[in-house]
Amino acid sequence: IKRSFSSSAVRNVVIKNVTIIGGGQMGAGIAQVAASTGHSVTLVDMTDDILKKAMKGIQSSLRRVVKKTFSGDPESGDDFIQKVMQNVSTSTEPSAAIATSDLILEAIVENMKIKQDLFGFLDKMAPEHTIFASNTSSLPISDIASATSRPDRCAGLHFFNPVPLMKLVEVVATTSTSPETSESLLNFTKALGKTPVCCKFLNPCLVCPGHPWVHRHASKEDIDTGMKLGAGYPMGPFELSDYVGLDTIKFIMDGWSKKEPDNPIFAPSQLLNKLVAEGKLGKKTLEGFYKYN
Ligand code: CAA
Ligand code: NAD
Repeated sequence: IKRSFSSSAVRNVVIKNVTIIGGGQMGAGIAQVAASTGHSVTLVDMTDDILKKAMKGIQSSLRRVVKKTFSGDPESGDDFIQKVMQNVSTSTEPSAAIATSDLILEAIVENMKIKQDLFGFLDKMAPEHTIFASNTSSLPISDIASATSRPDRCAGLHFFNPVPLMKLVEVVATTSTSPETSESLLNFTKALGKTPVCCKFLNPCLVCPGHPWVHRHASKEDIDTGMKLGAGYPMGPFELSDYVGLDTIKFIMDGWSKKEPDNPIFAPSQLLNKLVAEGKLGKKTLEGFYKYN
């Protein structure tokens, strides 16, 4: 029996308990911000080692934040960090957390089939009121939601990297997303201290800089310098791609190129494909377009 959509039980969910699936750059950042604003967070990933690394990353990011916000009062800063860390638990087996979640947000690999499998699996376990959100950069939310029996309670919640600093969150509603779900997510993002904007689909805002036509005009160093000093970008396109992760950029570009095969902007980049095949994924592997120590 299919569940009925938008029953009274799912109206105006106040999001307090959050499960975040995927403890990489984005999942850890979102967990940090949600925990810092008093939400109870469970961060889920595939191994304890990944989760340990995520918790270490959250702690060091919090130290950077606290240095500014508690500059004259380091003791209160330490208390704050301790409280925030207490708001985050980790798990490789999420069923208990899911049973009490108001929101499940996925920030796993940018792959439709894997995201659909995850949402299909979670749908069977989560309470009726639970909202499902995806942090996808490029995949259609309606396709991910189609793996569930609750498309009215599915939406995109697109954060930007680094999450603790970037103010914007795109709240992506499909034609099936209920107004109550959108409202709950808008209230949640505001409670995180972010500025939400509502969208119907995600924009292809990142264009891979690895195309031959880009290199024909200047070196990557000169392009990055030009965009920073001439256009006011905080990072040039090569630096930013390394920061986002070249595997993620490749998933995004391949998705757009499939959708718009004749658009030269999305034509496959041999350089990007080569770097990804060599495991040079950017800052996270200490080498991408640039090398890092
Ligand atoms: N957590 C907490 N604080 C952080 C931080 C983090 N993860 N990263 C940087 N900071 C703080 C630093 O501590 C530093 O603080 P002070 O000013 O007190 O020293 C401050 O931010 C500046 O950092 P840095 O000096 O290390 O470096 P920077 O000046 O180059 O700033 C940056 C770093 C904020 C990341 C900046 O380069 C920037 O805004 N880059 C562009 C980011 C961007 O465009 N993101 C969007 C990517 S696209 C996306 O996310 C969507 C998608 O789907 C792929
Ligand atoms: P990442 O590679 O840093 O982290 C992904 C994490 O998900 C890894 O720790 C991996 O072990 C885990 N994972 C994968 N499959 C899983 C599963 N089935 N169950 C549990 N955990 C699983 O990736 P990221 O950069 O954090 O990106 C995550 C998502 O956020 C992607 O959809 C990406 O497009 C999107 N996004 C990325 C950025 C960015 O700048 N990197 C910005 C906005 C949105």
